[in-house]
Amino acid sequence: MPTIFSHLRISALFIASLLNRQFSCKNGESLVVRSADEHDAAPLKELVKTMLADGNGQVRLLEVNSATKEDELGAIVNHRDDPNCLFLIAEPDQKVVGCLHFAGSPLSRLAHRGIFGMGVAPQWRGQGVGRQLLQTFLAWAELNPMLEKICLAVVANNARAIALYKKLGFQEEGPTRDSR
Ligand SMILES: CC(C)(COP(=O)(O)OP(=O)(O)OC[C@H]1O[C@@H](n2cnc3c(N)ncnc32)[C@H](O)[C@@H]1OP(=O)(O)O)[C@@H](O)C(=O)NCCC(=O)NCCS
Repeated sequence: MPTIFSHLRISALFIASLLNRQFSCKNGESLVVRSADEHDAAPLKELVKTMLADGNGQVRLLEVNSATKEDELGAIVNHRDDPNCLFLIAEPDQKVVGCLHFAGSPLSRLAHRGIFGMGVAPQWRGQGVGRQLLQTFLAWAELNPMLEKICLAVVANNARAIALYKKLGFQEEGPTRDSR
């Protein structure tokens, strides 16, 4: 059963320079976290395919499974063109191994909150990639004057994801019913 988490923050000015940063992974490799662009559509499709084959932690198997390269491209462009959305990728050595996408609500009364999802290629998990993606996103969110609350759904037995979310300040709101 998925569990809902939320993260409350203070609004401030938006700074785009946050969105291209270099880090070191736990294995010593250098990692870049940046905004996705059109060229990332094909590698993102491959990343999603790899994560689906692994199956671990995935919430929306069927929808993601039917996504084409064009769908990925559309998602990248939509996220880029909306100031209340963000699509991040993580790449060590110019290979896309992780992504995080956030969408603020399109409804003006609910634009202060939004939902994100993220994933890291199986062979790269546990190397700090997810933490760097999430920390970059949270730094952007802190500076986004529209946002006050970030939500996500996570399957209750996804210990690694839940540990990461809690370490970075998310609080559990409760389980949802009839989620698949
Ligand atoms: C969840 C996921 C995004 C996390 O990314 P990641 O790169 O593997 O995570 P990181 O290595 O950055 O960090 C994981 C943290 O949790 C800790 N951790 C890992 N497994 C843990 C466990 N079983 N229990 C407690 N803590 C755990 C790690 O020590 C690390 O903490 P640290 O940064 O303080 O050292 C990634 O594992 C993934 O894609 N999983 C499959 C898909 C998925 O679950 N997506 C999220 C759906 S809501």
